[in-house]
Amino acid sequence: MMATEDTASNKRETESVDNSALLANVSHEVRTPLNAILGYTSMLLDDVWGELNEKQRKSVRRISSNAQHLLGLLSDILDLTKLDAGKMPVHVDTFELSDLVREILEELEPLIEKAQLKAVGDFPQAPLWMESDRQKVKQIVVNLLTNALKFTPDGEIRIRISTRDESGLSEMAVIEVCDTGMGIAPRDQEKIFESFRQVDSSVRRARGGAGLGLAICRQFATMLNGSVSVLSEVGEGATFIVKLPMRIKARKETP
Ligand SMILES: Nc1ncnc2c1ncn2[C@@H]1O[C@H](COP(=O)(O)OP(=O)(O)O)[C@@H](O)[C@H]1O
Ligand SMILES: [Mg+2]
Repeated sequence: MMATEDTASNKRETESVDNSALLANVSHEVRTPLNAILGYTSMLLDDVWGELNEKQRKSVRRISSNAQHLLGLLSDILDLTKLDAGKMPVHVDTFELSDLVREILEELEPLIEKAQLKAVGDFPQAPLWMESDRQKVKQIVVNLLTNALKFTPDGEIRIRISTRDESGLSEMAVIEVCDTGMGIAPRDQEKIFESFRQVDSSVRRARGGAGLGLAICRQFATMLNGSVSVLSEVGEGATFIVKLPMRIKARKETP
């Protein structure tokens, strides 16, 4: 009995290793032509071979945004595969949280403008130094903000940063991403954190995405000893709340 279970779990392990090696290779093979497509579209959009007319420009932009979308999807799938195989490392850096969020808002500026929404940052006066995985915190916040942009037809999105002392726990950084969009029914609020889960509506389907973003957010937050949750009502907007310890210890560090 034990032997059979062992064999089964060994087999699963070998399969997941094989799968992630395969995916890493496939991902490289897919990324290379996608980057070539993006390079050529960007040259076309820069009028390197002459000025494009409006219809041509619109088509080339579509090619470019679809290629971007595929790259994003690929990187989400790779992240989830690594997470599933327990192969996602945590890198501890020291960074200031408000700076990181300002940097993200700047990077998202073109998307915010395109969505014709107001984006407001609400930062504490004192600097908030964190020792955590900067890249993962960044990815969580980018995911939540792009969702807020995607699911908010009008109004504003707001990101608020604060700290909270939770009894028995160390000081936590709290990042709240709040929008005035379509909201999420209570019965869907846990489902959306599962991979490939989206609230089924034609509006949402039309907005693209594969339903991986929040699954990655939750797993990243858990890896950083924190959490992500949501407060929302249909039609009343949504607030996603991320709580992360200000300091996590690097795994190899001895206390
Ligand atoms: N701010 C939001 N407002 C309304 N619905 C949201 C919001 N964020 C996420 N959702 C719902 O949760 C689903 C899953 O989100 P996510 O995992 O990021 O996938 P994707 O963005 O690819 O659809 C979305 O498809 C949407 O139905
Ligand atoms: Mg998303």
